[in-house]
Amino acid sequence: MFDSEVRTLCVVGAQWGDEGKGKLVDVIAERADWVVRYQGGANAGHTVQIGGRQFVLHQIPSGILHPGVRCAIGNGVVLDPDTLFTEIDELVREGVDVEGRLYVSDRAHLVLPYHKLVDCESAASRAIGTTGRGIGPAYEDKVARRGIRVQDLRHLDRLRDLVTAGIGHANAQLAASGSDKRASAEDTVALLERLAPRLLVLAEDVGLAVHRARLSGAAVLLEGAQGSLLDVDHGTYPFVTSSSTTSGGAATGAGLAPTSIDAVLGVVKAYTTRVGNGPLPTELDEALAAKVRKLGNEFGATTGRPRRCGWFDAVVVRYAARVNGLTGLAVTKLDVLDTLDRIGLCTAYESGGEVYDEFPGDLVLLDSVRPRYEWFEGWQSSTAAARTVDDLPAPARRYLDRIRELADTPIAYVSVGTRRDQIIGVE
Ligand code: IMP
Repeated sequence: MFDSEVRTLCVVGAQWGDEGKGKLVDVIAERADWVVRYQGGANAGHTVQIGGRQFVLHQIPSGILHPGVRCAIGNGVVLDPDTLFTEIDELVREGVDVEGRLYVSDRAHLVLPYHKLVDCESAASRAIGTTGRGIGPAYEDKVARRGIRVQDLRHLDRLRDLVTAGIGHANAQLAASGSDKRASAEDTVALLERLAPRLLVLAEDVGLAVHRARLSGAAVLLEGAQGSLLDVDHGTYPFVTSSSTTSGGAATGAGLAPTSIDAVLGVVKAYTTRVGNGPLPTELDEALAAKVRKLGNEFGATTGRPRRCGWFDAVVVRYAARVNGLTGLAVTKLDVLDTLDRIGLCTAYESGGEVYDEFPGDLVLLDSVRPRYEWFEGWQSSTAAARTVDDLPAPARRYLDRIRELADTPIAYVSVGTRRDQIIGVE
């Protein structure tokens, strides 16, 4: 993926998240010098399988599993310091050397216990089906200029005032939502005082560090979390996360110029899933969804929630290709479809006698659409051992060709299993 032309590559999810970005980033990171997370927080769960061991990373870039790769958490991330250290400690226990190669932007905002409390107690969060990790409330504080940044920990004398302001707002929200729980300023200040020395060791001007690395020719991978249809601007609002998951957000969230991104890889499943509420036009009936969920182990890496399952939606992926400027696609979990007798591919939507081949922003319209499908015969044989496109059964190749055509984007990778080696690099 990296060559003389492509030095900074962004990897985004091109559906509703859980597309298998963790595995792709892990494979590509082998040739990267830096991997940078640019948005989201501990709502993400990037699963990587190495030699029979499974790692689920929530905040630390998956590149950490490659010795020598530097990893950074960018300014666009909302960082939960407590769970960051749990994650670091687990990696160290598993023998991963983290020391000296993990950096945290000093501009990143913190997710604090009161953000999680508000997220878990609010009816609005329940209606969206959030992960309860405090993501929305932390971004809300950031935009309302009430947030606490990593660098604020350098000035512990001012911290109490910042925490008091944040907690005042959080407690008002808790009261308004009818909850009898309240956050404590004392406990929050004590937590931050305890975590500050450990966090400040990691604090860095990440944008500047990565900029300098780029000038010296480094290969930089920008790792997106969630998916394009969960983007706060381009997703199925309000059923979205609170950050910019698309490639535009990568520049802002990593602290790099938009012109520094040379290529954008969109990761898609060979079908579609979504966790939480909101539109999913190609959603399967429960019997088939249960089958695909079991075959694909479609349960949330962060919350364990069962994922809703649907056929591949080319309207969604074509839209994601446009919004992100995708230069390539990685199609994951093709093997999950191996045993199905027929496979649907949505090419357009129909509603009220109209045909829509562009993804609509109007949720009322989206709720009314019926997908228009092309049907493909199932290949009914295992793809798990395929290592080249030619190893794939002909119906699987036809299916991938049609995805490429409809998304108007070349396919760069096809993944056929959870292991690192179960991937086909398409020439
Ligand atoms: P939040 O990001 O926790 O606020 O949740 C907002 C929406 O994004 C909910 O529908 C979540 O299920 C969804 N979401 C957040 N993170 C992920 C993820 O990593 N994968 C898939 N969906 C996610």
